[in-house]
Amino acid sequence: MIELRELSPRDAEALLRIYSSEATRYLDREAMDAAEARHYLRDAAASAAQTPRTLYVLGLAVDGDLVGIVKLHRDRPVAAVSYILRADAWDRGYATAGVRRILALAFGHLGLPHVRAKHRPDNPASGRVLRKAGFTPTGEHDGFATYTMRVPIPREVAVEVHPVAGYELEIEGTDDRPFVTLEDMDDSRDEVVTQSVREALGIPDHAPPVLMIKDPYGPIARTEQASAFPLPPGSAD
Ligand SMILES: CC(C)(COP(=O)(O)OP(=O)(O)OC[C@H]1O[C@@H](n2cnc3c(N)ncnc32)[C@H](O)[C@@H]1OP(=O)(O)O)[C@@H](O)C(=O)NCCC(=O)NCCS
Repeated sequence: MIELRELSPRDAEALLRIYSSEATRYLDREAMDAAEARHYLRDAAASAAQTPRTLYVLGLAVDGDLVGIVKLHRDRPVAAVSYILRADAWDRGYATAGVRRILALAFGHLGLPHVRAKHRPDNPASGRVLRKAGFTPTGEHDGFATYTMRVPIPREVAVEVHPVAGYELEIEGTDDRPFVTLEDMDDSRDEVVTQSVREALGIPDHAPPVLMIKDPYGPIARTEQASAFPLPPGSAD
């Protein structure tokens, strides 16, 4: 199981293995030592206790093994995501999974509209992580390749119909396109409601639909009211 969790003082050893010189050379910094690890964990605990919280420094654990750190920085006009993985855990999809989970926190729970990320141009694996997670490249700035992402709709979308209870359909995105943007979704909402849902489930035309957006990467969900997207012609509520 892959999860993001808060760090604890017991994570110092694991942190040293994550921030080894093999990984930190892409971050323009030295490997971490034991004293820095203790400070890092103290600072992470302090930021977790802040209200409102402006920095999330979360551990990426795979079956209980802490293999990386994923951060969300909210102490700037546009929030930013960053991450680092233990070198022996690279190329197994863990960073991408961690970034997707922190995006679920950012866009879902925190309701942020916009998130950025960057990496050194000599670190193509990091660019690949960002693209797989749904970021769009925006060029280069200050020697970094830069990326942006605006509020997406996660790949699994459930459509419910109210007030007629009991109808629900899950619509899967494609593997190579895990997120659908709001603009993309606007174009297809009519079709989703009229064809996939109403025809497949025989939902009465008069029932006003509600799009319920489920987060496949975490427990976060939000609901859009029927008025947020057009009803098919003649299906007045
Ligand atoms: C960058 C980093 C986070 C990637 O973590 P990871 O868990 O290996 O990432 P994932 O497995 O989710 O994805 C890696 C992708 O990069 C690809 N990749 C690996 N090396 C690559 C290279 N040299 N060139 C291009 N793509 C590469 C992998 O094939 C994979 O893509 P795929 O799924 O399409 O095959 C990790 O290498 C790391 O921590 N590096 C050091 C610190 C760092 O760079 N942090 C980010 C700073 S912006």
